[in-house]
Amino acid sequence: MPKPILVVTRRLPEAIEARASRDYEARLSADDAMVSGAAILARAEGASAILCCPAERLDAETIGKLPGSVKVIGTFSVGFDHIDMAAARARGLPVVNTPDVLSVATAECAMLLILAAARRAGEGERLIRGRGWDGWAPTQLMGTLVSGRRLGIFGMGRIGRELARMAAGFEMAVHYRDQTRLPPELEHGATFHESDDAFLACCDVLSLNAPGGEGTRHWLNAARIAQLPRGAIVANAARGTLIDDAALIAALRSGQVAAAGLDVYNNEPKLDAGYLELENVVLLPHLGSATTRTRDAMGHLVLDGIDAVLAGQTPSNRVG
Ligand code: DGY
Repeated sequence: MPKPILVVTRRLPEAIEARASRDYEARLSADDAMVSGAAILARAEGASAILCCPAERLDAETIGKLPGSVKVIGTFSVGFDHIDMAAARARGLPVVNTPDVLSVATAECAMLLILAAARRAGEGERLIRGRGWDGWAPTQLMGTLVSGRRLGIFGMGRIGRELARMAAGFEMAVHYRDQTRLPPELEHGATFHESDDAFLACCDVLSLNAPGGEGTRHWLNAARIAQLPRGAIVANAARGTLIDDAALIAALRSGQVAAAGLDVYNNEPKLDAGYLELENVVLLPHLGSATTRTRDAMGHLVLDGIDAVLAGQTPSNRVG
C-alpha cells in the first residue's frame, strides 16, 4: 500500500519530520521559505493532508482549489485565524490544531513581555550593546513594579489562565474579560468583568490573550486605550490583529501607555515601522511557543490529529 501524501509547508523539528516521513510520503520543505497559497497548491497534487503554519494564509481561493484528494488540514499552531474556516467547512475539510501543549510556553512569553516592558529590559540591553553604559546610577532606567499591581487578561482561555497562575507568584490581582464567566473552579480568585469599561479601568497591566480573527480585530483601539489607567503596561502574545497599531503607538508616545511588550503584529513580519522608533516597546519575533519541548509536542499533536482524521475518527483537536 503506498503511504498517503502529506504536504508540510515549513521545516519542522527533527523528530516531527522523522515521524511524518515514517508514516507518510512526506513532501517536506526544502528551504523553510515562506510559502504562498499558490506554492501550497503547486505541491498538493495527490496529497491526502496539508500541514501548514500560522505564517501562511489558507484563504478561500486556495482552499477552493485544493485537489479533492486532500482530506484534512493540520496547522502547527493553536490559532487558526490564517485559515478560512468557512471555506474549509464548505469543502467538508476538517482542520486540526495544537491546543494545550503550548499554553505554558505562551504564558511564559506573555510574562516575559510584561516584565521586560515594565523594567525597560530592551533599553538596558541596547545601552550595554551600544557601549553606552558607564555604570550604576540612582536614576537610571527606572521602570514600574508589576508585583502587587492589577493584571487585566483579555481572553481567559487556556493561555490566559496559565498567565493568571504565574501572576499569582507576583501577587498580582487578576481581572479578566471574556465572552462568558468561567466556572468558579477555573477562576482561582480572578475577577470577571461584564463590560470593557469596568475591565479596562482595572488594568495597570493589560495582557491580550484572545484569539485573532474578525471578532477581535483592533479590539485595543484609541477609545479603549483611553480607558486604561494612565501609565499602563500592555503586552500581546496572542495575535497582532488585536491591536490598532496607530492608536497604541500614539499612546506610547503620549505616555498614556508607559510601555508595551509585543510578540505578534499586524502584517507579520512587516510590523508597523512606528514601533521601531520607540524606546518604550519591547519587540519579539513571534516566539510564544518557541521552546524545543513545546514545538515537539505541537508537532506530535497535529500529526495525531491528521492520522485520526485519515483513519475516519474525530480527534479532540479538531477545530472545524
Ligand atoms: C499559535 O500557536 O497560534 C502561535 O501563534 C504559534 O505558536
